[in-house]
Amino acid sequence: MNVLKRSLAVLSLISFAYISVQCKENKKDKSNEMVSEIKNPITIAKEAYGVTSDSINVESYTLKNEKGMEVTIITYGGIITTLKVPNKDNKIEDVVLGYNSIEEYQKSTPYFGALIGRYGNRIAKGKFSLDGIEYTLAANDGSNHLHGGVKGFDKVVWTAEVLEDTGSLKLSYLSKDMEEGYPGNLETVVIYKLTNDNELEVSYEATTDKKTIVNLTQHSYFNLSGDFSKPILDHEITINADKFVPVDAILIPTGELKDVANTPFDFRVAKSVGQDIEVENEQLKRGLGYDHCWVLNNQNEGIRLTSSAYHKESGRLLEVFSDEPGIQLYTGNFLDGTLPNKQGGTYGHRTGFCLETQHYPDSPNQKDFPSVVLNPGEKYKTTTSFKFSVK
Ligand code: BGC
Repeated sequence: MNVLKRSLAVLSLISFAYISVQCKENKKDKSNEMVSEIKNPITIAKEAYGVTSDSINVESYTLKNEKGMEVTIITYGGIITTLKVPNKDNKIEDVVLGYNSIEEYQKSTPYFGALIGRYGNRIAKGKFSLDGIEYTLAANDGSNHLHGGVKGFDKVVWTAEVLEDTGSLKLSYLSKDMEEGYPGNLETVVIYKLTNDNELEVSYEATTDKKTIVNLTQHSYFNLSGDFSKPILDHEITINADKFVPVDAILIPTGELKDVANTPFDFRVAKSVGQDIEVENEQLKRGLGYDHCWVLNNQNEGIRLTSSAYHKESGRLLEVFSDEPGIQLYTGNFLDGTLPNKQGGTYGHRTGFCLETQHYPDSPNQKDFPSVVLNPGEKYKTTTSFKFSVK
């Protein structure tokens, strides 16, 4: 009896659940009648991940598809801790930087794999005005505000719910009025959905009860080689953008949108990250490499292909689809070999790149940039999807 009780206690303690999600799909049979067929099983496994320094339990959820692609997301920061995809020989390896424990994530992270909010990217001096009221946010990046502040969405614990019928994980968070200095109670929902096409879709929704600003994104660092000791300079990138957003010395947009033609910022045709990253260029100097937002083409088309990254040796191709107007390519310029690498060793210079779909930096202070204002009664809605294949 005691043994039974103990096993039950252990079981509930580690809170392990294994949910097989059977996505039903209607299909026509030969006689043209609609029949219902069970197809596309996505499995979702929940496990205890750890406990935060303020004693909050953190769970992990692993979504796996029938091709063996799997993604693990933790409720702390909605962080993607691992993302495993096949290479051209069908070897499944992890392609995102991160850590192995909650302690490491809490100690110091350059936003590895995290959800970013309320505002992805920089706001000059952390100040903006709405209807004549000036708001002041934390200056957590020199004199600027970056990625939501001291305790942004990357450092809060989200409430998780498995959506069995779609093979998705729903994360919710209520950011209270004036949290990190932002006005309005912001009800935020992020849904991670895995498909059998090796696609991870991330959809975001938010509503507010007071006029506010929102610009959410996902901050995964990719290294498609699967070997985190290798720099990503050999990855070939495309970005479907004729213009980019030049920045000043502290990475705040100058307000100009500049043509990429004849600059190192032209990724309209595939080019390796390393090809032009060291050329003499004032913008590259300021970013210490690529750390800029591109003005994506076809902004009225909704979800479209924004960019891609290809790693020839492994054959892995990542395509990023989104309805956002901009994308920040950040080439891990601040990684300097001090942070522990989950494969052993440390994360060296430029061993990961981010493709962060978003509105342009400092939009609240730039009247000509697309608006990031959200009013009560409106719904903020945006979707980005990361599709993996081999070539
Ligand atoms: C920014 C970088 C920043 C990094 C955080 C990126 O999104 O563009 O400037 O250093 O996040 O580590």
